[in-house]
Amino acid sequence: MSKPSIDLSKLYKPHPRQVLFHESPHKGRLFGGAIRGGKTVAGVRESIQLCLDYPGNVGIVARQTLPALKKTVLVEFEKYEGVCAMDNGRVAKDANGKDLRLITQHHATDHYFQFYNGSRIWYTSLGDDKAGLAAQMGTTIGFFFIDQIEECSEAHFNNLLGRLSLNLPGIKLKYILTANPMPGWVKDRFILNSPKDFIYIPSLPKDNPYLPANYEAELRETYPAELVRAWLEGDWNVMETGNFVFNFTEINRASDKELSPEGEKYMGVDLAWGGGDENVAIIRQGGKVLTFERWIYPAEESIRSVDKIIDLLTLHEIKPQNCNVDAVSGGNPICSEIIRRGYRVNSIIAGEKADDETKYINKRAEMYFQLRGRFRDNLISIPDDRTLKAQLSTIRYKPAQEKRMQIISKEEMRKAGEKSPDRADALALSFYEAKVRNPNIRWLG
Ligand SMILES: Nc1ncnc2c1ncn2[C@@H]1O[C@H](COP(=O)(O)OP(=O)(O)OP(=O)(O)O)[C@@H](O)[C@H]1O
Ligand SMILES: [Mg+2]
Repeated sequence: MSKPSIDLSKLYKPHPRQVLFHESPHKGRLFGGAIRGGKTVAGVRESIQLCLDYPGNVGIVARQTLPALKKTVLVEFEKYEGVCAMDNGRVAKDANGKDLRLITQHHATDHYFQFYNGSRIWYTSLGDDKAGLAAQMGTTIGFFFIDQIEECSEAHFNNLLGRLSLNLPGIKLKYILTANPMPGWVKDRFILNSPKDFIYIPSLPKDNPYLPANYEAELRETYPAELVRAWLEGDWNVMETGNFVFNFTEINRASDKELSPEGEKYMGVDLAWGGGDENVAIIRQGGKVLTFERWIYPAEESIRSVDKIIDLLTLHEIKPQNCNVDAVSGGNPICSEIIRRGYRVNSIIAGEKADDETKYINKRAEMYFQLRGRFRDNLISIPDDRTLKAQLSTIRYKPAQEKRMQIISKEEMRKAGEKSPDRADALALSFYEAKVRNPNIRWLG
């Protein structure tokens, strides 16, 4: 019997950047440096090729989290599961007379793909690997592929690098990485410096002919300019310190802007973290901020904010369901008490999941990006308050895992010696429209 052969050409035709990546002879390759350039597809294909080139090869394919790995990398692998080996123009047969498949087994519990020639690919998450699978997967490997390495720690990378020592005839040990531009260790190690026997091959969305025609234009609409430079144009020099959510022109344009108050009234309340800090309530109607209230109570009297908030609701005739109250730490007992007294306001925990989880890492990011939309579309009028405007201009975002947005946290701002942006937070809360109103059931307790 002649040697069975595998033809993968129907499944995948690499674009020119991908060809460059597949053909480069280096031990280490970082492919991409932007979104949607065809990184995952190419990394999976190259991993399979390495299994074919060296029968008995062992590889590890990984991403930071398992859900992300499943949604991206595994979906690509599955496309190869039906491929059969051919022998003289016919499907080759195994010892039992069954069709000989490229991938003879996908072991979903143990997380591996077994190949017909004895090669094996293990797959795992690195950051949330609770079962410790990565540690069990072959102490010596011939290659590894980490998709979106910028989301992973350098320790995980070093661990896999240390395992590259599989001894097979003629084998070339390889590692494949993909990344989007992001400040951090990946930039330092692979972009600003270059390890031995390593190459960085950029691939931008415009290099990928398989994307829909309007794809890039739509992203340019959605993302802030700095992020466009990083994600679409592959610029590694942005976002070193995080970037501003609001620009000065927009803030000034909104300050005391003529805008008629329309529709129902809404209120956002940011509660102090400790005694001496400011509590802020902002009331708006449509896009127009009507008033804002500030008060300070000593820490031991912070519960007095309950009466204050209920008074404001009554005085301004605001429906409790139109009121978003910050329920993080110190705000939690206050929210619960307001609700217990029958005012079912929305308790907002900024660190909780956003409604649109695909775009925002948490509610705080979602709130600020909704507010940003108002400023950008010129649909907001704020009081000409120096502190509020200064606070707005300090709010910064940074990209987080899986192309989501994150706002630099208050803790980080405090650590950097910046003031907590209480007024800006109250403004974001007052404009936040959660898709599903949150009838916090703590009032039952
Ligand atoms: N050679 C190719 N042939 C056909 N389709 C391709 C090819 N390369 C990429 N694509 C398609 O282009 C899109 C983007 O590819 P892929 O998901 O690999 O990019 P990515 O850089 O990993 O993107 P992301 O930044 O979202 O992780 C996918 O729909 C993919 O199927
Ligand atoms: Mg990808």
